[in-house]
Amino acid sequence: MHLHQLTLYDFRNYADVRLTLPPGLILVTGANAQGKSNLLEAMALLAYGQSPRTSHESDVVRWGATAARVSGEVIHGTGEFGLAVAVGQHGPRQLRVNGNHVRRLADYVGRLPAVYFGVEDLALVRGAPAGRRRFVDRLLSQLSPRYFLSLQQYNKILQQRNAWLRGLGEGRRHDPAMAEMWREQLSTVGGLIIAHRLRLLHQLEQWTIDAHSIIVGGPQAVQMQYAMAESETVPTAADATAHLAELLERLAPRERARGQTLAGPHRDDLLILLSGKEARRYASQGQQRSLVLSMKLAEVLLLRAVKDEAPLLLFDDVLAELDQDRQNRLVEAIPADVQTVITSTEPPPAVAGRRMYRIWVQDGTIIRQAAC
Ligand SMILES: Nc1ncnc2c1ncn2[C@@H]1O[C@H](COP(=O)(O)OP(=O)(O)OP(=O)(O)O)[C@@H](O)[C@H]1O
Ligand SMILES: [Mg+2]
Repeated sequence: MHLHQLTLYDFRNYADVRLTLPPGLILVTGANAQGKSNLLEAMALLAYGQSPRTSHESDVVRWGATAARVSGEVIHGTGEFGLAVAVGQHGPRQLRVNGNHVRRLADYVGRLPAVYFGVEDLALVRGAPAGRRRFVDRLLSQLSPRYFLSLQQYNKILQQRNAWLRGLGEGRRHDPAMAEMWREQLSTVGGLIIAHRLRLLHQLEQWTIDAHSIIVGGPQAVQMQYAMAESETVPTAADATAHLAELLERLAPRERARGQTLAGPHRDDLLILLSGKEARRYASQGQQRSLVLSMKLAEVLLLRAVKDEAPLLLFDDVLAELDQDRQNRLVEAIPADVQTVITSTEPPPAVAGRRMYRIWVQDGTIIRQAAC
């Protein structure tokens, strides 16, 4: 699968740009602050229906403009289709597939599978659990619309339940029937999410082991485990709901005192073990970095296998952050059918000698493009 055409209107510092892109390796170059990351962000927005760089949607609207529009043509095995995202300064986001409105983000995500890799992702192993949850959620959302819907539903229930818990702290009378209702709702949808994640983890672990042995040049024990907040044991996919419900019952007095939901997928973590030890705490910086690359590469390989189509791979500035050895291993491990877009001020050594398509960006315009 590859993004063949891309059009931007009033997106970040681009007023009006239309690009035709080849499959294979694409390098976006230019000096700082010219629009390299913005161009990559536009591609990610088209794939995910939302920007991976900001949670304030309207940030992408060009200053002074009323709406940003990004559209593209995707070529895949058996044909092509069009995607379009419009983000208003105030109004709601609009999504289209082949010109037809798509109301729910869940029905949009996953049509153009993509892996976005920004500098902030380098902290995937070392950083806080939220980054690992985002990694898993983004991957699963592209694989299953049902997962994405459950996640949205869960977040809504969580907010309402937290508001209810806070109300108790402010003196509202405790009603056991309400407590039971919230516990059931949260554990039903939360259990579904955990079950999905557990099933994914098994596949992801296999792909990460493969990717890791390519990145470090030999086999090493990598394991991935699900860690449930406030629980010593990990449920199976089949009993995740019952496990969460029990946990919430046990935590009820503490939750009432704290005024917040203390267990559930919003607090869970993905444990990554290297040679049996938790990598976040014990692995060296270099080992952590290799693990991050392996997980991102695993994401590419897994999407490619499950979707039976190569995803789009977007590297924002990341290659330049890696030593040359890791750059080479990573670039060599990317399957040839994966359209890969890299932004960088200078061509990174790993791609310098390769056949690629190069795009030069300056102040929100494409000043040159050529195959080299
Ligand atoms: N909504 C917006 N409207 C107009 N310009 C914007 C908007 N958002 C960001 N910009 C500007 O776009 C410019 C280019 O940003 P971008 O992040 O793409 O730079 P870059 O080429 O990746 O630079 P670097 O090499 O430093 O990463 C920045 O100067 C930024 O201020
Ligand atoms: Mg940038």
